[in-house]
Amino acid sequence: MSEILSVRGAAKSYGAVKALRGADLAVARGEVHALCGDNGAGKSTLIKLVAGVEHPDAGEIALRGEKVRFSSPHDALAAGIATIHQDLGLAPGLTIYQNVFMGSELVKRVLGIPVLDRAAMIARSQDFLVQLNSVMRDMTARVENLSGGQRQAVALCRALRWNAEIIVMDEPTAALGVRETEEVIKLIRRLKENGVTVILISHNMNDVIAVADRVTILRGGRTETSLPTEGLNAQALSDLIMRGETALEEAG
Ligand SMILES: Nc1ncnc2c1ncn2[C@@H]1O[C@H](COP(=O)(O)OP(=O)(O)OP(=O)(O)O)[C@@H](O)[C@H]1O
Ligand SMILES: [Mg+2]
Repeated sequence: MSEILSVRGAAKSYGAVKALRGADLAVARGEVHALCGDNGAGKSTLIKLVAGVEHPDAGEIALRGEKVRFSSPHDALAAGIATIHQDLGLAPGLTIYQNVFMGSELVKRVLGIPVLDRAAMIARSQDFLVQLNSVMRDMTARVENLSGGQRQAVALCRALRWNAEIIVMDEPTAALGVRETEEVIKLIRRLKENGVTVILISHNMNDVIAVADRVTILRGGRTETSLPTEGLNAQALSDLIMRGETALEEAG
């Protein structure tokens, strides 16, 4: 397997709380890799290290085989890792294209003076949405008027705008109904078809089974196991998270 991202022996404490005590993660290029574990297992902390939000106390992160040290989320983004947090980080009162290009607006020069290139931002936003198979066509619609699934698509467009090779999604379906969850699953499949590597944090075993190629399970800040989802069902996965590897052995 061609490894695009690896974390080895990551440790991170917050005061007396050991959030991570030696976590490993190996993500292959182009796969959908789920990160699972009970509440407090360390999933978000591990992702914060990968996203440049926090620094590990110990351990190493390697991207495309080279050791990296991110000092900010912008560093991680520039290296090709975009993270979509649960709140999506969108500005509801702004339009789709304004959200896609927030903080990285396209400009053109008119008589030597830089002005926002609205037409280019609208056209490129539309391109990104087409890449995601989205049917949204009005790039001037306000995000507050979009469904949960559509908002996820806008957040993904912002990641694509940075040419992200790895997109990390923290609980993308947690607040969504059945139909919108299905939309998000389709978005993830579409990203994979386009060659993007996806790391998906999820408590929803059905989503993980539906879309992930591989799953890494954290427990108490350590990596319990990492295995392909092929042949697993939601119940087996949930047993594995709750009871650990003995669940697999018992299942034979
Ligand atoms: N900023 C912080 N300050 C203090 N403790 C923290 C902080 N962030 C996380 N922790 C603690 O670290 C541990 C791991 O937390 P983390 O958020 O990584 O877990 P998680 O697997 O994402 O859980 P959940 O499924 O509930 O989101 C928990 O005990 C948590 O309370
Ligand atoms: Mg979390």
